[in-house]
Amino acid sequence: MSRTQTWLITGASSGFGQSIGIAALNAGQRVVGATRDVVMAKHCNPEFAAKGGMWTRLDPGHPESLAHFAKAQEEFDVDVLVNCAGYAFIGGVEDTSEQEIRHQMEVNFYGPIRAIKAVLPAMRRKKRGHIVLISSGAGFIARPGRGVYSASKYAIEAIHESLMHETHSLGIKTLIVEPGAFRTAFSTRLVTPAAHESTGGYSEAYRGTKLEAMLQMMHGKDGVPPENLAKGDPDKAAKAIVDAVLGGHEYLRLILGPDCVKAMEDKIGEFQRDLELTREVSMGTDVVAMKA
Ligand SMILES: NC(=O)c1ccc[n+]([C@@H]2O[C@H](COP(=O)([O-])OP(=O)(O)OC[C@H]3O[C@@H](n4cnc5c(N)ncnc54)[C@H](OP(=O)(O)O)[C@@H]3O)[C@@H](O)[C@H]2O)c1
Repeated sequence: MSRTQTWLITGASSGFGQSIGIAALNAGQRVVGATRDVVMAKHCNPEFAAKGGMWTRLDPGHPESLAHFAKAQEEFDVDVLVNCAGYAFIGGVEDTSEQEIRHQMEVNFYGPIRAIKAVLPAMRRKKRGHIVLISSGAGFIARPGRGVYSASKYAIEAIHESLMHETHSLGIKTLIVEPGAFRTAFSTRLVTPAAHESTGGYSEAYRGTKLEAMLQMMHGKDGVPPENLAKGDPDKAAKAIVDAVLGGHEYLRLILGPDCVKAMEDKIGEFQRDLELTREVSMGTDVVAMKA
């Protein structure tokens, strides 16, 4: 029987955050849900409080949120941090403003870093703790229209991967979760380039390209809303995540969903092909050249 641990979950009012909260409560854990709007969260998720979950107001994307995370750490003494809050900016590289890129990074990249900085000192002192990132298949694969979203997820994965190396010997575990498409409100909250609202997010130059096709797909297909196109069940994902944290895991990355497994295999194959195609030139660049 494992010890009751305190979980702090960002973006806990809906989707993965909500499901992970309920799954952790069902497993006998103490859970604090961080949300930007406590009133709304309570209203949308009465089961959470009924099972003993607590809410705290926190916006990870706010530049001052480090102080808010530190306050939450002081109040609750976090054992398991789940960096879950996030949204996807979908648009072409050329069509996206620097301000839009900065906001994506503020929420998906700086937010989780602020949370980590707030909980790490106490975790180091206790010589135990768990940091979980809800990343995405987009943390390994950059599709058209997803350059900015992928950049935020690649970057925050790098932070968590590095953190794993830095803190494993101090008793702190790290888990990066890479889900495929799951049925949450996520795809209804996509943000697209404001300057190209009239087309749904792309400039005329990209009509008829893969970027237009991706944006149309992200907005839904044949009258089917985008969230219904996703096959993943967030409750099943949440159970897998809670089981991994409580049961122990020997891996850094947990890939969720058959769509994501297939996409990962394809990308690894492309990576391997590039490695083979460039092996000879790669091996010849040392001062004293090595044989391929
Ligand atoms: N659903 C998928 O298919 C999918 C696939 C791969 C990865 N993901 C990742 O899973 C995580 C959770 O997403 P979800 O699918 O559960 O979607 P969701 O239902 O929209 O939940 C995301 C939560 O993040 C918070 N959030 C959203 N926009 C924010 C902003 N601008 N600033 C601060 N917080 C914001 C919100 O929490 P509060 O309102 O409670 O503050 C929101 O409830 C995200 O990091 C996403 O990248 C989702």
